[in-house]
Amino acid sequence: MCGIVAYIGRQDAAPILMEGLHRLEYRGYDSAGLAVVRGAALRLYKTQGKVRNLEHLLPQGLKGSPGIAHTRWATHGEPSDRNAHPHTDAASRYAIVHNGIIENAAALRAQLTAQGVEFRSDTDSEVLAHLIAAMPADTLEKAVRAALQLVTGAYGIAVVDAERPEALVVARQGSPVILGVGDREMFVASDAAALVRHTQSVVHLDDGEIAVVRADGFETSTLEGGPTVKVPLVLEWQAEALGKGDFAHFMHKEIAEQPEAIRRTLSGRLEPRFQTTHLGGLEMAARELLEVRRIKILGCGSAYIAGCIGAQLIEQLARIPAHAEPASEFRYRNPVIEPDTLYVAVSQSGETFDTLAAVQEVTRKGGRALGVVNAVGSTIARACGRGIYLHAGPEIAVVSTKTFTCTAVAFALLAIHLGRLRDLSTGHGERLVAALEALPDQVAAILANDAAIEPIARSIAGYHDVYFVGRAAGYAVAMEGALKLKEVSYQHAEAYPASELKHGPLALIDPQTPTVVVLPRDELFAKNVSTIEEIRARRGPIYLVTQPGPLAVAVDGLLEVPSSEPELDPILLNIPLQLLAYRVALARGTEIDQPRNLAKSVTVE
Ligand code: F6R
Repeated sequence: MCGIVAYIGRQDAAPILMEGLHRLEYRGYDSAGLAVVRGAALRLYKTQGKVRNLEHLLPQGLKGSPGIAHTRWATHGEPSDRNAHPHTDAASRYAIVHNGIIENAAALRAQLTAQGVEFRSDTDSEVLAHLIAAMPADTLEKAVRAALQLVTGAYGIAVVDAERPEALVVARQGSPVILGVGDREMFVASDAAALVRHTQSVVHLDDGEIAVVRADGFETSTLEGGPTVKVPLVLEWQAEALGKGDFAHFMHKEIAEQPEAIRRTLSGRLEPRFQTTHLGGLEMAARELLEVRRIKILGCGSAYIAGCIGAQLIEQLARIPAHAEPASEFRYRNPVIEPDTLYVAVSQSGETFDTLAAVQEVTRKGGRALGVVNAVGSTIARACGRGIYLHAGPEIAVVSTKTFTCTAVAFALLAIHLGRLRDLSTGHGERLVAALEALPDQVAAILANDAAIEPIARSIAGYHDVYFVGRAAGYAVAMEGALKLKEVSYQHAEAYPASELKHGPLALIDPQTPTVVVLPRDELFAKNVSTIEEIRARRGPIYLVTQPGPLAVAVDGLLEVPSSEPELDPILLNIPLQLLAYRVALARGTEIDQPRNLAKSVTVE
């Protein structure tokens, strides 16, 4: 949620840190700050608000290295200048940036206050700066290690010592820290997005690890002091992917990137010759996959909803009972973990705390987990150890669009693979593989019709409440449509199974409450048309997302998508709803890429 950047090397740190902060701003953005070491002293600047506020505060040509920087999404203490990071000890010798939550901060604060320490912020993070200063140690590493022994909770930290500028120290427990290996310079970030302009060679710290980072390299060890060995990974992201290009918003750019993103998800995974798919990362032999009796899909927000589409695909194509559940709920209900169930964790960032905790609950109880993850080498990907990478490229907008689509595509690949090991016929497999191949062009065709959405978006923008309904996989599309709209337009949007409408929500339908109906031309078409009639009878405005064909009901707006194989239709039906949310938000003038109160990667509970 918050972002960390750090640098040590021959260049001045400040420009590198500022560039990194801009890259990370999507993670958390109520305040920002940086500290650099210059002439055995700290130069520290921090402020409430966006990274550009910090930019205005920095003196021209600020010199010094090493340096650390932070964008904050408030957890302890309101957003303010004083609560912004970095935090320092009383002598302003040590500076620290921290992501996560120190759970025993209140007790530590009370102890330190009793010893005469005066706190300058309301944060849990400042406690760490004072603790580090209080440790009797002759190196920064030893001081940080000793301080962390006293702390419970989650952290990703970077610390500098003005009197020993030859190294900075970073540590990780539950909040990501990635090292970027340069040429006689080293970078640190909580997210690879802040590193790719400088290096493609990265090292992910594991929980309970500390690294001493010097300009010419790094050493890692456990919190207890045992050395660890890390092999750098090569990032596949290119720096250009992190810019907005000609688009006004990342959300729009990422919606537009979907044809290419889907191609990458599919790349090398279709096997038309055997009417199936190939997923190298599953690392499960056919025999093992045949023993799977149930599939449980876990994720949060859009990842969970993509999992709902995944569950339907798996049940339909592989005839394995499959069910999606919010990972945030699953982990708290002491779930029964069954040996013949395959647990699938879905996450764009690979860092969502609740999803990671769900994976840990599964593996701790002896279950098998695999990941459907976008960020290569991320914590969830490593915790699962096997799975399907989306290869959708970096997603910068807070709301997920292309990774939602690519997750559904990845589930289609998995469902076909499992299905062809069971009863899915060669003919059906062949049609599905061909349909997946056609998907990128079909998505491109929907995107080219963006103009048709404009008038519908303008009229929906005027309402206070919007309902989304659909049946079966259409209901998952409705859920995602409602989530996207509420996130970026701040309208009250709610999804209901169309069949449930008359069991309650119909009471709310009136001329001021529009309903978006997801209407594939499948065997439920007639039932969905009856639902439309019921809404119409209450004079509720109706907007349809559907496929071409005759329609005997009057509607207020129509969004059409091409047909695929019926099982894949939800993927296409979702695309206009992404554009709708984007265009409604534009019409309402909301902040699209960084919606209020939200952050891209939710790494706290
Ligand atoms: C919705 C959205 C969130 C995320 C959720 C999970 O637009 O972006 O609901 O889907 O926070 O994030 P990941 O996929 O990173 O685990």
